[in-house]
Amino acid sequence: MSYPFSYYQESADLLRSKIGSFQPEVAMVLGSGLGFLGDVVKDAVTVPYGEIPHFQVSTAPGHKGQLVFGTLAGKKVAVMQGRMHHYEGYSYEDVSYAVRVLKLLGCDKLIVTNAAGCVNTAWKAGDLMLITDQIKLFLESPLRGENLPEFGPRFPDMSHVYTPAFQEIARTSAKELGIDLKEGVYCYFPGPQYETPAEVRAARILGGDACGMSTAPEVIAAAHAGMQILGFTLLTNMAAGILDQPLSEQEVLDAAEACKDKFSKLVLSCLEKM
Ligand code: HPA
Repeated sequence: MSYPFSYYQESADLLRSKIGSFQPEVAMVLGSGLGFLGDVVKDAVTVPYGEIPHFQVSTAPGHKGQLVFGTLAGKKVAVMQGRMHHYEGYSYEDVSYAVRVLKLLGCDKLIVTNAAGCVNTAWKAGDLMLITDQIKLFLESPLRGENLPEFGPRFPDMSHVYTPAFQEIARTSAKELGIDLKEGVYCYFPGPQYETPAEVRAARILGGDACGMSTAPEVIAAAHAGMQILGFTLLTNMAAGILDQPLSEQEVLDAAEACKDKFSKLVLSCLEKM
């Protein structure tokens, strides 16, 4: 189904009733390993997704399922602790719903982070990647159905989805922190099964450097709504078929935990400059 614009307004109205005159500037969608940043937001107002009309709840492991409003790195933020994924059974419209609501609340900027498999064989598990572009082939778009012109045009341009000026900020922050930040293309696979080795080879031929099950749908909706976007991937494991070992969720969670210090420092340093 296509949600009417009034749904988004109703969700935003409920949130406004909770946060009063607080005006978030930067929305943050935090994936595996970085959700804890929501816990260090200052003067936090927390709203569980279940209390917001028309919101879905996130069921993925390590995803808390709440919005946290407050101050982080000196910026007024709205942090999604937990995101919705298509593999949980949600439509792409549901997956990207919250980002549109945060846009209505005044967030013109978005930070997205995720954990993903490393497709680029020159890199290693534990590396961080600045997302410079994305591939989301096939399956429907979150923008399918009636266009809501309140958010953006019917056929939005996707030439510079990840904002070049934000990429520069990330490069500067990485240099300051001594972090070897890779740069590359995030290739979306819907999951929940990990990719096959043949799919990983296909992603590489197509120009992908990382493969994962999130981010791309929300980013399409955010770009449609004219948000400026900064994205990072934590490469938690070599993608399927590169090493002679099976992939496991535990490996992903362990790697996310091991890298969270370096990852959070980078994200906070960028946030400060945005
Ligand atoms: N593939 C897809 N999603 C992932 C992976 C992967 O290898 N690792 C962490 N999330």
